[in-house]
Amino acid sequence: LPAVTKALAQWVFSHPYNIKRPEVTKYLQPFQLSPETLQEVSARLRKDLLRGLGKHSHHKAPVKMLPTFVRATPDGTEKGDFLALDLGGTNFRVLHVRVEEEAQKVQICAIPQEMMLGTGEQLFDHIATCLGDFLESHNLKGQTLPLGFTFSFPCEQLEIDKSILIRWTKGFNCSGVEGKDVVQLLKEAIHRRGDYHIGSVAMVNDTVGTMMSCGYKDQSCEIGMIIGTGTNACYMEEIKNVKRIEGKDGRMCINTEWGGFGDDGCLDDILTEFDVEVDKTSINPGVHIFEKMISGMYLGEIVRLVLVKMTKDKLLFKGQISEALGTPGRFETKFISEIEDGLENAKKILTELGLDWDLVDASVVRLVCDTISSRSAYLCAAALATLVNRIRNNRKLGHLKTTVGVDGTVYRKHPTFSSKLQKAVRLLAPQCDITFLVSEDGSGTGAAMVTAVAYFCASILIQWMV
Ligand code: GLC
Repeated sequence: LPAVTKALAQWVFSHPYNIKRPEVTKYLQPFQLSPETLQEVSARLRKDLLRGLGKHSHHKAPVKMLPTFVRATPDGTEKGDFLALDLGGTNFRVLHVRVEEEAQKVQICAIPQEMMLGTGEQLFDHIATCLGDFLESHNLKGQTLPLGFTFSFPCEQLEIDKSILIRWTKGFNCSGVEGKDVVQLLKEAIHRRGDYHIGSVAMVNDTVGTMMSCGYKDQSCEIGMIIGTGTNACYMEEIKNVKRIEGKDGRMCINTEWGGFGDDGCLDDILTEFDVEVDKTSINPGVHIFEKMISGMYLGEIVRLVLVKMTKDKLLFKGQISEALGTPGRFETKFISEIEDGLENAKKILTELGLDWDLVDASVVRLVCDTISSRSAYLCAAALATLVNRIRNNRKLGHLKTTVGVDGTVYRKHPTFSSKLQKAVRLLAPQCDITFLVSEDGSGTGAAMVTAVAYFCASILIQWMV
């Protein structure tokens, strides 16, 4: 890195806590990635994007680079009345949306953990029931509305309403769904009930939906990024570079599935013992390694494992691990945001976890949270830098101005995540000027717009499909 950038980097990557227990640094150093390491991560991802796009390399590529058949971003004039389902984030949601009025009704349905690990039939029956209840309570049962289905898992999209699940990620592992057409499974479940009908269905990944919904407001939005329960991004690629697709002209949105980066071992040198442990004890070991270093499903658990180790080594809580701290999954990712947000929050959470803490303990815990959430932000920045640099090179531009549509609880709720990510991406992609646009999602609004707009664009563009 040039000298000025280096000085800037020192400032970007520094942390604000003054800890009076220097021994803790050795536990945290492996999480502190230098700007040079981040550049190296970005370079490795650049190679993996090419593998994913290649005709003969894609089937083995860890970063899948899935064509979405979406060939344009919205122009802001789309209209329509839609139903939308949103599966794969923090909540399962059913929505009714009128795009041009930005009016929508939203219902959140819980998906119990047993169901996330049960049979596909149970899961889709549950989805069909939630949709049926929603139609009933909003007097929509007699209508046949088109349905946008945001299904946030890696799918081989064959048509806009035919999408084969490659594999489950995040907390899901329902039997009998991998390798099947998810739209078909939904239609069959609705058919089994027989008490309502739906119109045509459009399937989208949440990244694509986010890009589309942000693109509705800002036409230069060409990247969609999620940092929530999982992490992923999509972007507009030149069709001539998508070797699996025939055709030379124009662009297509590619769902990168960057969560799978590292699944071939190419990130092993930066994994910590805690990452290895999180992967080993997950329901899908060896899968989505990059995601497991970054996203909300795993960050809390990484912090917990570090705290447990420090406590065992008598550096925290007088060496006493409470029952809660000793329980996998009990340290939630949202605690990280809360703890970093203020010392009072940290004290309250440590008390609730049954820990005997002192003030130095509380500040060490804050430093642990800061270190692990910062690594997440910087790794995302490295990955995003790869995408914007690629778009700039594709177009042979000296300078690229573009917008990234973003969603996800980690990005939206963490107090400093977004600013860290943005600063780091500016350093790693100095020739790109990026605007970040958060998809408005307070009560599900974003998801509604997302699926509806995606459906609308997709249906116009269906004629283009290969
Ligand atoms: C996981 C899924 C991906 C999704 C992401 C964010 O990585 O595989 O499809 O976009 O989570 O929800």
